[in-house]
Parts: sequence; structure tokens; C-alpha cells
Amino acid sequence: MNQNPTPSEQLDRLRQPAKESWHALQDSDVPVIYVGHATCGRAAGSQETIEGFEQALADKGIAAEIRTVGCLGHCYAEPLVIIHYPGFPPLMYQKIGAGEARVLVNSFLQAGEDPCFEYLLGALEPNEMFPTLMDYPRYLYEKRVIMAHCGRIDPENIDHYLALDGYQALAKALEQGGQWVVDEVKAAHLRGRGGAGFPAGIKWEIARHAEKQPKVVICNGDEGDPGAYMDRTLMESNPHQVLEGLAIAALAVGAERAILYIRAEYPLAVRTIQQAIYAAREKKLLGDHILGTDFSLDISIFQGSGAFVCGEETALIQSVEGHRGMPQYRPPYPAVEGLDGLPTVINNVKTLATVPAIISKGSDWFKTIGTEKTPGTAIFSVVGEVEYPGLVEVPMGVSLEHLIYEVCGGIKDGKPFKAVQIGGPSGGCLPESELGTAIDFDSLKQAGAMMGSGGMVVMNADACMVEVARYFVDFTQKESCGKCTFCRIGTRHLLAILEDFTKGVGSDDDLQELKSLSEGIIKGSLCSLGKTAPNPVLTTLKFFPDEYLAHIHEQRCPAMMCRALTAFYIDLEACARGCDACVACCPTEAIFTTSNRKKAIDQEKCVKCGECVYACPPEYDAVRRVSPPGMIPDQGIKPLVETKEEQ
Ligand SMILES: Cc1cc2nc3c(=O)[nH]c(=O)nc-3n(C[C@H](O)[C@H](O)[C@H](O)COP(=O)(O)O)c2cc1C
Ligand code: SF4
Ligand code: SF4
Ligand code: SF4
Repeated sequence: MNQNPTPSEQLDRLRQPAKESWHALQDSDVPVIYVGHATCGRAAGSQETIEGFEQALADKGIAAEIRTVGCLGHCYAEPLVIIHYPGFPPLMYQKIGAGEARVLVNSFLQAGEDPCFEYLLGALEPNEMFPTLMDYPRYLYEKRVIMAHCGRIDPENIDHYLALDGYQALAKALEQGGQWVVDEVKAAHLRGRGGAGFPAGIKWEIARHAEKQPKVVICNGDEGDPGAYMDRTLMESNPHQVLEGLAIAALAVGAERAILYIRAEYPLAVRTIQQAIYAAREKKLLGDHILGTDFSLDISIFQGSGAFVCGEETALIQSVEGHRGMPQYRPPYPAVEGLDGLPTVINNVKTLATVPAIISKGSDWFKTIGTEKTPGTAIFSVVGEVEYPGLVEVPMGVSLEHLIYEVCGGIKDGKPFKAVQIGGPSGGCLPESELGTAIDFDSLKQAGAMMGSGGMVVMNADACMVEVARYFVDFTQKESCGKCTFCRIGTRHLLAILEDFTKGVGSDDDLQELKSLSEGIIKGSLCSLGKTAPNPVLTTLKFFPDEYLAHIHEQRCPAMMCRALTAFYIDLEACARGCDACVACCPTEAIFTTSNRKKAIDQEKCVKCGECVYACPPEYDAVRRVSPPGMIPDQGIKPLVETKEEQ
């Protein structure tokens, strides 16, 4: 009997040639140079790196292949390059600009002699010649489930994903059926990575059993949090993993239409996903009769216009429908009545990108990672004052201390840690005493912060916590859609009080007002933008009360960061005669020469930009910052002009 091939058999036909071309690349007899070319790599200059390699290879007449890959998440080391020279393990190099590319070509690629240890991060595989990446805590402690292939494969080549077992989960899901998928995702206890941590399987089940037809699935790639770029990286670096997760979700729900909502400020992500949709359609992995089955799925991209609130699921739906993006009252929840009144499942990019691994390896495997209540991994974009900033994927449940000190190398330049702000603009600021907090939805919430979508800003002793609270409230206030009075006007009042504090204007009554307003905003706001906007205020008030009191009672900024409360002067004892580095850097020509040829600052002209602090050579270190401004000592300064006149 001539039976139709199963989805897995159909997939095997696609995978065979994909694997052959992948292995041919791995075993290539010419060197292969992989350059990280996602947005972060490009921002660090990866285009110049590529051109540098091309030029140097042409000049030397060396045959080599250059392949662009996505982002590995190691922002501190960009532009990142992996070179696979025949006979050597693949070697990863950091900070490779056009000049370094030429050195690598001349020293290493030309004769395979000098592998340029000065740029080397490590080998990707165990070997006897080179340290491996696993020798570094940054690599050792990470657990890569979602980002496993990011930075290793060409996102524009579907064969790379197929060769590494891509779309195997979709084939399995098609064979097992939608209800089995729902049960498996429920059993895995996969919680949504978009912020709220709602179990994905339950959401899918509600939509699956909703009466209205047809159903819709939306991937939320809005990612409006400042400093967060996990979702962008996934879409740019491994688009097929996101598409596969989306297709499995659609199968589970019974939807034949899916939308990828991506903000227009992510043009590379839009382009990469679009290209991936075309490639998957061509191979019958999307579109009509996927892998020869009755399941069809039409995926389209909707580009958001950059409003932070449009990441909220009901506002997102409004925006896709062509209305102004404003959150709506729930219930009904989108899973019951969403886009155009149809049952609509909305999931974050990371949630969907986790699904293929759960389906392929099983819910029991997934539950071996992370905690009982939140299995799996968390991806954070760790920015700020750590040695190794970037994207980090760790098992749920590890402590903040472990993440900051072991994985990210601790605080830059050995400065003391002050606070970590977690969860995006509405996240809380936690001090050193809370560093034992486990990274998971519930523990972070209990500590006053939140997972959010994974933004994390690490601050050292130079951060002023009053200014930090002001900064984040400024963001949420501007992004409030204006629907709720407390969010619209309350955040404006919060901001006005915080602005006053940073100028040394404020009272104890204002402090009380800050607290009661925060409570009112939490209670009186419809969506989580308003409900969580006071988090930075409440946590800084709780953990750093002395800083508020110093601003209010002493007009002093302990971190010496608030401009109105600080001033700069030059210590004449330390200043080197005739070194003019500070003069050259001052944007307002505030620095003048004194009677003994040393330099001093005209306080009327100084805009407190701090440039002169950095310009002054470390051996003199003569520029001082004080708070309050009245702390400037009287050094008996006379301008040089006066001296001349006197003479
Ligand atoms: C102001 C605001 C912005 C949000 N932005 C995003 C976002 O950019 N991406 C996202 O996945 N979820 C965002 N959310 C959460 C979504 O409303 C929704 O909970 C999420 O997309 C559901 O996916 P998940 O269950 O996979 O987490 C935001 C929520 C609020 C209140
Ligand atoms: S809480 Fe703020 S952002 Fe949310 S609906 Fe109300 S006004 Fe709009
Ligand atoms: S702080 Fe800025 S404006 Fe003031 S003296 Fe220094 S460089 Fe000039
Ligand atoms: S840079 Fe420093 S040492 Fe040089 S003139 Fe200015 S204050 Fe003096």
C-alpha cells in the first residue's frame, strides 16, 4: 500500500541536503570566518570587520569563506568573530575591527601559524592547544536553551536551522495533534516570558476550547523596554525557532492565521523574519498543507510604531485593528475575544522560542531546568556597570548575586555595587542586601522588583537613586496612554516631585505625597504600565531613604550626580601647570588660567557636564566634584589677566 509520508518523513527529505551542506561547511578545507552581524554587532562595526577581512584576503590571495551569523549575546566583546581554520578547533575572537581582521589574515589565515592569542577569547570545543570558552564563568554558568544556536548559525539560511534539528518539533506536534501539544506545554508549566508569567498551556487551552472561529495567534515582539533587546536578538539570530514556536502554538489553538508584531524600530528583525517566512513557505514548513498535512498557517508581520504601551496585549490588538493603541478592560481576555472579536493567543517571542525544545525533548526534560514553580531559563539583557554586559541565559532560580558576580564578572573597575534595577522601566531597584533573591517571577515580585521582560540595569556607587527613580518615572509618564486619570496625571505629579528633589527643592510632606500618590496610581490604573510605574519610586524610598533625606534636608546629592546639587572645581595643588587638557574639552569655555598659570572653573559658565573630570590626566586627577555646591573651597583664585594688569 502506498501511504502518504508522515510529517517527520517529509522533514527528513528536507533535512538530508541541509545536513550535508552544514557538514560541508564544518569540514570545509578553506578557513571559514563567521562574523556576528546582528544589530549589536553592526553597531560595534561588524560591517567594517567584514570589509577588512575581504580586503585583506584579496590582498593576500587567500581563499576563505565569510559567513554572517547572529548575536551570541556577548556585547562586551563585539565585533565577535569565529574562525574555523582547517586542523584547528573553531576559535572565537573579540573586538575585531578592520585592523585586527588584517592582522588575523596576515598572521593566522595566511599560514596557520600564529593564531593571534592577543584577540582570542577561546576555543569553542575542548582541545589540547587553546583555552576553551568553558574556562570562563560567563560561558560555564549559562544554560542556553532558547539561545542555543544564536550566533552560531546563519539566520538567513534555513538549512542551518534544519541541519540542527529545526522544525523537528513541528513535525512531532503535527503527528501528535493539537490537544497533545496543549497537554505537553501545560505539563511543562511554561510561563509566559513577556512579564506576567501566565502559563502558556492554559492560555492555549482556553483559546482552543473557545467557541468562536477562526482563531488567531500573535507573537509579541514589541519589546519597548529601554535597554531590553532579547526578543530582537532572537528574531535576528534564529528567526526559524520563533516561527516554529508560533506554528506549534497555532496548531495547538486551532488557528490558521498568525501575526508577528514587531516594532518598526527593529528593521533588521523585520527583514530577517520576513525572509525566514519566505524560506519556510518555500519548503512547505509554513503556508498551505504544512509538511503534507491538513494544517495550514498564514503568518504575516505587523510593524508597531514604537509606543511602549502597545506591547500590552489589548493595546497591541487595538493597534493591529487600526485604532489608537490603548489598553482595554478585561475580561473578556484576548484568548476568548481578541483581535476582531476572535479568540486570540498572544505570546512573547521568548515564550514561543522555548516551545520547540519542550516539544522535541519533552516536558519532563524541561522541568529539570529552573525551579518547580518556574521551569526553564530566563534571558536577561544585563547592562550598566558589569564587566561583561550582554544577553545572559541562566536557569530560573539562580540568585541575582550569582548572575551579577559570577556570570557577568562583577562590577566594572572594582567599584562598589549599589543597586540593580530589574524588569524594565517599571522594575524595582534592589540593594546589596537583596542580592540573594532568586531570579523567578514570584521571588522578584516579593522583593519589590519584577521579571518584566528581562531588562536589568546594574548600578555602582556613582548612581543617584533619586535620579534613577526620576529617570524611569519620566519614561513611564511619557508612555502613559492617558486613559486613566491616576496614571495620566498621577505619574506627572510623581515626576514633578522627583524633579524637585533632584534640584534640592522638597519637603518631608512631599515624601509622604510621593508614597500616597504611588499607592493611588497602583490602585487606580487599568493596565500594568500604571500599576507598576511607581515601583522604582517605592523601592528606592524603601532601600535608599537616606539619599532622599540628603537631597531634601541638606540639598546634597550623595552620589554627586544631580547637576543642580553639584559643582566642579580644580584643586590647584594637584593641577599641572600648563597641561591644557581640561580647557580643550570644556564645551562652554568655563575653564580659565589663574595667576599662577594653573586652571580654574568659572562657575557661572560651567554646565556641569563632567567632561573635564575625564580629560584631566590620571596622574594629576585635579578636577573635584562636590555636593552641595557651597562646598567649593576658597583657593584665592585670580585670573591671569588681572595679574598682567597688576604688572
Ligand atoms: C505597558 C506594557 C508593555 C508590555 N510590553 C510587552 C512587550 O513588549 N512584549 C511582550 O511580550 N509582552 C509585553 N507586555 C505583556 C503583554 O501584555 C502580555 O502579557 C504578553 O505579551 C503575553 O505573552 P506571554 O504570556 O508569553 O508572556 C506588556 C505589558 C504592559 C502592561
Ligand atoms: S494605566 Fe496608564 S497606560 Fe495603562 S491604560 Fe491606564 S493610562 Fe493607559
Ligand atoms: S564640568 Fe563641563 S562645563 Fe564645567 S568646567 Fe568641566 S568641562 Fe566645562
Ligand atoms: S587637565 Fe587637569 S592637570 Fe591639566 S590643566 Fe586641567 S586641571 Fe590641571
